[in-house]
Amino acid sequence: MSLLEVRDLKVTYPGGAAAVRGVDLSLAPGEKLGVAGESGCGKSTLALALLRLLPPGARVGGEVLLDGEDVLTMKWGRVRAVRWAGASIVFQGAMHSLNAVHRIGDQIAEPILLHRRATPAGARKRAGELLEQVGLPAARASAYPHELSGGQRQRVMIAMALACDPRLIVADEPTTALDVMIQAQILRLIEGLVGEQDVGLIMISHDLAVLADTCDRLAVMYAGRVVEEGPARQVYDDARHPYGRALAEAFPTIGDPASRFAPRGLPGDPPDPAAVPSGCAFHPRCPVALDLCAAQDQPLREAGARRRAACVHVGSDGTGTPGDGTAAEGEAPTEDAAPAREGAADDGGASAERGASAEGEGPAGGRDASMEDDGVRSSAP
Ligand SMILES: Nc1ncnc2c1ncn2[C@@H]1O[C@H](COP(=O)(O)OP(=O)(O)O)[C@@H](O)[C@H]1O
Ligand code: SF4
Ligand SMILES: [Mg+2]
Repeated sequence: MSLLEVRDLKVTYPGGAAAVRGVDLSLAPGEKLGVAGESGCGKSTLALALLRLLPPGARVGGEVLLDGEDVLTMKWGRVRAVRWAGASIVFQGAMHSLNAVHRIGDQIAEPILLHRRATPAGARKRAGELLEQVGLPAARASAYPHELSGGQRQRVMIAMALACDPRLIVADEPTTALDVMIQAQILRLIEGLVGEQDVGLIMISHDLAVLADTCDRLAVMYAGRVVEEGPARQVYDDARHPYGRALAEAFPTIGDPASRFAPRGLPGDPPDPAAVPSGCAFHPRCPVALDLCAAQDQPLREAGARRRAACVHVGSDGTGTPGDGTAAEGEAPTEDAAPAREGAADDGGASAERGASAEGEGPAGGRDASMEDDGVRSSAP
């Protein structure tokens, strides 16, 4: 069975921004899935939805099955248990997520105490082991966050994410704030830990090169949709969707910060999610768009072995490549404008949740749980 199965996930923010518009993903234990796309494509919204960390008022539809259990419909008590022990999130910018006035060892030990019922001495020992696991001396447990470098703080965040042996780790741009050398170290660290412990990893980045280097599979998001998905190296070297291609060409070297907001060679910006273009949402920017692309959206279809892409040029036999102008002329448009089901509203629960995580966490209680913050946010006890 899949560790994680995401089915037709849709998220619409108050005000009408359809940030995620029907995403299907699956992840096996020990598998590393990269999620790529420019800023604003819905990557972080997807990550937040997986653990029900969206802000109040966000409408959510679809299913997020973690070990077969739907995170979107489970009771809040169960959601809290699933966070940490089931799945944890590492966000970028660790400085703002660690509590400045508590020693890092106490902050790592806290969820262990809360969720594992270890003795204080046992939790302290485990915190030391976790620090060593992420390449820091156990003695650093007595340090305060400001005594660590940015890379060290990010290692601490990873140690916290690992504290309760989660089955799934979601890393949302975990290295973006770090310099390139440290980025490579942190990515290798995450990769190694995931490999050793057979946990699933969803690694989110705007940088396709980084993901191709780190992950087994890659999903490329555009305007809230997965438009291409397949084995990481193949998607990077030979994308089938014109957007996947543009993104791959924009990142000739790993960690090129200039490509973050405007991939080279690709004019314009991703659409405003409150006003997604008709038809294929990529058509205003697509170099190989056909007339019908403005009217007809394309579902993901087979584009080779274990590959899918959502483009009119990709034939149902998977042989089409962008530019050949064949295939799917008669496809019916897919309906995608509004969430089909908006059952799992996160409103009340989510706000209560964030209140709890901001106030009731003891040593880590100062972590800011607002939408702007970064760092491990799956921390509500
Ligand atoms: N809290 C929010 N309220 C309204 N719109 C939001 C909120 N958070 C994100 N958005 C919008 O949703 C879209 C997707 O954002 P996000 O998921 O952060 O994308 P990414 O992580 O790919 O950069 C963006 O257009 C963003 O402006
Ligand atoms: S469906 Fe049309 S607009 Fe969309 S990516 Fe393919 S060619 Fe471009
Ligand atoms: Mg983001």
